[in-house]
Amino acid sequence: MKKGIPLFLLSLLFISPGCKQTKEVVNEYNIVPLPNQMIPQEGRFELSSKVKVVTTACTPEVKTIADSLVERIALTSGIRLSQTDQANSSAPTITFAMNPQLPAEGYELSVKPSGIILSASQPNGFFYGVQSLYQLLPPAVYGRTKDKKAAWSVPAVEIQDAPRFPYRGLMLDVCRHFSELDYIYKFIDQLAAHKMNTFHWHLTDDQGWRIEIKKYPKLTEIGSKRKETLVDYYYTNWPQIFDGKEHGGYYTQEQIKAVVAYAASKYITVIPEIEMPGHAVAAIASYPELSCTPDTTYDVTGTWGVFDQVFCPKEETFAFLEGVLDEVVDLFPSSYIHIGGDECPKTAWKNCDHCQTLIRTLGLKDDTTPNAVDGKKHTKEEKLQSYVITRMEKYLNSKGRNIIGWDEILEGGLAPNATVMSWRGVEGGITAAKAGHNAIMTPNPYVYLDHYQEDPEFAPTTIGGYNTLKKTYSYNPVPDDADELVKKHIIGLQGNIWNEYMQNDERRDYQTFPRAIAIAETGWTENRNKNWNSFCQRMVEEFERMDIMQVKACRNFFDVNINTHVEPGSGVLNVVLESFYPNADIRYTTDGSEPTEQSERYTQPFALTGQLDLKAAVFNKDKRLGKVSSKSLYGNLISGKRFTTTPAMGWATGDAVNEYDVLGADSTTLGLTNGKRGNNASYAPWTSFGMSDTCDELEFIVNMEKPTKISKVVFGSLFNPAYRILPAGGASVEVSNDGVQYREVAASTFARQFPPKGRKAYTDSLSFQPTEAQFVKVKIQNGGTLRNGIDCRKDTPGEIIHADLYIDEIEIY
Ligand code: ACM
Ligand code: ZN
Repeated sequence: MKKGIPLFLLSLLFISPGCKQTKEVVNEYNIVPLPNQMIPQEGRFELSSKVKVVTTACTPEVKTIADSLVERIALTSGIRLSQTDQANSSAPTITFAMNPQLPAEGYELSVKPSGIILSASQPNGFFYGVQSLYQLLPPAVYGRTKDKKAAWSVPAVEIQDAPRFPYRGLMLDVCRHFSELDYIYKFIDQLAAHKMNTFHWHLTDDQGWRIEIKKYPKLTEIGSKRKETLVDYYYTNWPQIFDGKEHGGYYTQEQIKAVVAYAASKYITVIPEIEMPGHAVAAIASYPELSCTPDTTYDVTGTWGVFDQVFCPKEETFAFLEGVLDEVVDLFPSSYIHIGGDECPKTAWKNCDHCQTLIRTLGLKDDTTPNAVDGKKHTKEEKLQSYVITRMEKYLNSKGRNIIGWDEILEGGLAPNATVMSWRGVEGGITAAKAGHNAIMTPNPYVYLDHYQEDPEFAPTTIGGYNTLKKTYSYNPVPDDADELVKKHIIGLQGNIWNEYMQNDERRDYQTFPRAIAIAETGWTENRNKNWNSFCQRMVEEFERMDIMQVKACRNFFDVNINTHVEPGSGVLNVVLESFYPNADIRYTTDGSEPTEQSERYTQPFALTGQLDLKAAVFNKDKRLGKVSSKSLYGNLISGKRFTTTPAMGWATGDAVNEYDVLGADSTTLGLTNGKRGNNASYAPWTSFGMSDTCDELEFIVNMEKPTKISKVVFGSLFNPAYRILPAGGASVEVSNDGVQYREVAASTFARQFPPKGRKAYTDSLSFQPTEAQFVKVKIQNGGTLRNGIDCRKDTPGEIIHADLYIDEIEIY
């Protein structure tokens, strides 16, 4: 491709304020994903009924794409362009021109006031060129009705474009909550509009079997329905509470064929996922003989998680799986079939005579030395899983198809031709690529769209995490310095939409968009051309398009995220207000009032010195754009300070706290001194400490760096017995000037009235005579014991266990 103006320079030009002409340019070229080479030109091409769409020497398929352009413009502008094979030199034209030189999926789009030329070597390139053309037209082009007021013209531009990766996808889980067909079609439309080419359809799981298999009718008669579904967050209640409502649904083979054909018309391949050997409860509820304990009756699951009941690798099960795949390959022409492979506990196999005999027959042994591919030691049961996957791979290879599996398929040995989908971070994909296998990157957390994307305190319940649009955008599947094999074998990326907490289409839209569009850009646009500021500029119009298409995206883009941050080494905790809206005019108040365009303007981070009841919003031309964000922050003598804890902070919320609370600060501050108290809404802000017989209190030590007068310690702790969490039973404060000799200045126990169930945050304080201290030790005793199975859902039934501590924040005044 020829070189144009580097895109980063263009984007700087676009956002330079104060110049009317350049400002207009900002709103003209809002193509998402960003083309890899785009040079804006002077003038515009006007649409009118005189315009001819010329398709001389084009294949019928390309003519169909030209037709779809004509129809969409007629529907939304009322202007009917005419299609012709004959170029008439006097009429303005939109010409579709075959150019065999252009790369796969690539296109060139030349818009001049006199005419438009769209060139490509293949139909999909023309299709993508048309998508770019739509994004150069008014957003109304995505509507269903005529918009006469819109300016139906295209700004002049020269584009040369082709994707970075051949695989660009989204996965939708329809098992945890069923999606009706109209949503599937809408979802495919969104993939197409953003030049994604793969729809990974997660069709089978513990909570529902969603694909009609004629040979095994019970899969849908029984396996597609569950009696009821978990209410509230997974660990909120014990016993868990269920809604008492049957949930179900499946797609008939005729419906699936129609979806596959529709997707193909938009150059999208549908890859079905049939989970094995784990996530199989719906299948074995339908056919218990496929499990290791065939005499048991199973229910299709109504809770979330990973279940011990999995397919038993007996000949009968292989015959079943092959029978299912026979019908699957007839329905889905994709070169790949996804066979799952993730999260398969080995408990049932360890206790099953058949499985253990098979392990012996196959000569499988626990590794005594690390495996050459991933450097880990694998168990004989993991090798049995590898046997299952390899056998199914062979079957699918015999039908001309290749398998994809989640990265657990690396454990116990990779099937010879498998492609790995890396979800537990990036490591699985990199290991697979280095072993010469293709890999698709779908790493948690970047592209896990079931995670929170705005402050969990105010967002609908999700599975956890904190993964903003900016963080999703920041992901680069293949860094410049990656190993050559990694560069060669990472074929693309995909966003995953797991549906546990997405009960309806609105929730699905909210979780998926706009982050899926950031993923589309990462998949298409070369990393050197990606630019976060430019993306945000283009997203403004993208939100208009989504409104017109009735995509109910999360609108955090127009809000303020209230964060705190410690500049490494400074020890000062700053308040940081951030909005993704370009050049956002952020106004805030600290007196509890609603911010207006007259309120204090936020210009830069400022130190958090006391309690602050912050409210903030984004304004544009005197109008508030999004919601008012509010947060109480508790600045105190140890805000942003480093500390040590015994025991170490637990894993349970570690990632979430890290990402959510400190956004880049050194990790020792984590959630405990970031100025934000834990709340009832989610686990995200809390820091967990595991308790046991040998450790039943938390010791927190902070060095205040110089002798400081103190008189009070405040801390928060959580009640959530279903998750074996009780709030602090007591606490004490000790002070020291040398960090060696400590003297107790306060101690207290806490009597509490607990709610019968659920989750509740408690705040406790210990006051004492003002005293000078450089080192402060806060000891927090755990809240006592729980009787498992009665008070709490963990571990061995009936066992008495220590409650864990979830703490946030610890403050000293
Ligand atoms: C997965 O998220 N279990 C692939
Ligand atoms: Zn078994």
